[in-house]
Amino acid sequence: MSDVAHLEGAAAAPKLADRPSFDDWLRQHQERAQTLIEHYVPQQHPLVPQLHEAMHYAAAMGGKRVRPLLVWAAGECVQGEAQALDRAACAVELVHAYSLVHDDLPCMDDDVLRRGQPTTHVRFGEALALLAGDALQALAYEVLTPEDEIAPPLQARLCALLARASGADGMAGGQTLDILATGGAVSGDDLMHMHRRKTGALLKASVLMGAACGGVHPASASSPTHKALEIYGDAVGLAFQVVDDILDVTADSHTLGKTAGKDAQQNKSTYVSALGLDAARTLAHGLRDKAQAALDTLAPPQRAASQRLRELADLIVLRGY
Ligand code: IPE
Ligand code: IPE
Ligand code: MG
Ligand code: MG
Ligand code: MG
Repeated sequence: MSDVAHLEGAAAAPKLADRPSFDDWLRQHQERAQTLIEHYVPQQHPLVPQLHEAMHYAAAMGGKRVRPLLVWAAGECVQGEAQALDRAACAVELVHAYSLVHDDLPCMDDDVLRRGQPTTHVRFGEALALLAGDALQALAYEVLTPEDEIAPPLQARLCALLARASGADGMAGGQTLDILATGGAVSGDDLMHMHRRKTGALLKASVLMGAACGGVHPASASSPTHKALEIYGDAVGLAFQVVDDILDVTADSHTLGKTAGKDAQQNKSTYVSALGLDAARTLAHGLRDKAQAALDTLAPPQRAASQRLRELADLIVLRGY
């Protein structure tokens, strides 16, 4: 696979004084995510063109790019390597895109609208949607393992973080719990375990992958930094799904780009069905506070450089309602 060296503007951490506004930072990095995805998931490809078209449709057409934003924001906090950050940002978004395609399938949530368009299986058929999801997941690991650009130990670390967050103890496990809980009553603890896995794990991995790109991992000398970022990632990861549950009730399909009211219609176990809207909002705000308090424990230079993470926690919890 060709490398990304030719892509302009590799995302080096800016000096604090030159920091753009959060809105500008968001726009620049969302555009960067788009550029990377268009590079790695071209719409047209001579090898099995139908599959590539479905992969492109699922990955490149819209989305808030929250996971790549978390990778880059964590990378800014720890002065991560730009090329590794780009690849990590793209890889986690590819896994997320695959998870959405499968989540929407008739055997799962049976949704027809995603990112304001017909879902991938509606557009391409179930078999191609399933296979596009499979191929996007595989591509994520190809993106993380170039011949050069990323030192092998970092490649291994990034792959391990992403694999763990996607598998039985992460997204796939959480999705299983979601399906099993549908139509039944679950305890608050069960709901938390389910949400942490199905959604939180990948968001937390985004933060930890960004940290790893700056040499921050559990066995590194900077393990207090790792701990703080882990608490941050865990809290915003759970908050993200709590807010997704809230928005399913409070927002309309046009704003969401997906079918509003679907959780109640399908009798899903959500924070809103378990706690009610107000308590779910209070929980989300508390998680945002917890995430930001973890950033306050960082050493002063990193605390200053964690501004984007702080702003992203606000964005995740305050979006849309
Ligand atoms: C939706 O994720 C699915 C959940 C994990 C809650 P996003 O809200 O990040 O979806 P996009 O990527 O912006 O479309
Ligand atoms: C999906 O949760 C989590 C994933 C792992 C994709 P939801 O089923 O609530 O996501 P939406 O609301 O369809 O985006
Ligand atoms: Mg679902
Ligand atoms: Mg769904
Ligand atoms: Mg939802």
